[in-house]
Amino acid sequence: MNFESAKDQLTKVLVTEEQINSRVAELAAEIDKRYEGKDVLLVGVLKGAVMFMADLSRALSISTSMDWMALSSYGSGTVSSGVIRILKDLDAEIHGKDVLIVEDIIDSGLTLSWLETTLKARGAASVEVVAFLRKPDAAKVEVPVWLVGFDIPNEFVVGYGLDYNEKYRSLNCVAVLDPKVYS
Ligand code: PRP
Repeated sequence: MNFESAKDQLTKVLVTEEQINSRVAELAAEIDKRYEGKDVLLVGVLKGAVMFMADLSRALSISTSMDWMALSSYGSGTVSSGVIRILKDLDAEIHGKDVLIVEDIIDSGLTLSWLETTLKARGAASVEVVAFLRKPDAAKVEVPVWLVGFDIPNEFVVGYGLDYNEKYRSLNCVAVLDPKVYS
């Protein structure tokens, strides 16, 4: 799906497909440099990180494995409480592994803060984070993040994995959802 095919539901493009591709290549180069000669476990957070994981992992030259978690935060509606429930856990132990968390977006930071603490507590040799998007103005907790694709304003964005009611994940860019869609 592209912006044109949903333009009556979107207000503007924040990150184009071309910008996504070139930034993913830059991020992959950084990751290759840091982990040269190592085996890295990429941990994706379902479902939003699917597109980013697919592109980033294929852009990497280093040897990687992939695993996934599905998380849900307790809370009403869009208000996150910071209490995280595991819907699907990792398939394998991570003790002694170099883990790279692959996230689509850091909003309040609560999910990532919890996840980083949890994976470190399981005995990973190292835990780093690459997040495709970050909303600095929405932060409730400061989470140190190694790599960020783009800092974006605190708007309702969809596309490149991000959804509204499970829609727009397949949009090939990141766009702002027209408020009329959710109001
Ligand atoms: C989104 C996103 C992050 C989290 C970020 O997931 O993928 O995991 O929220 O928010 P936070 O920084 O406020 O914790 P969501 O719960 O929407 O699930 P989804 O990826 O399946 O859409």
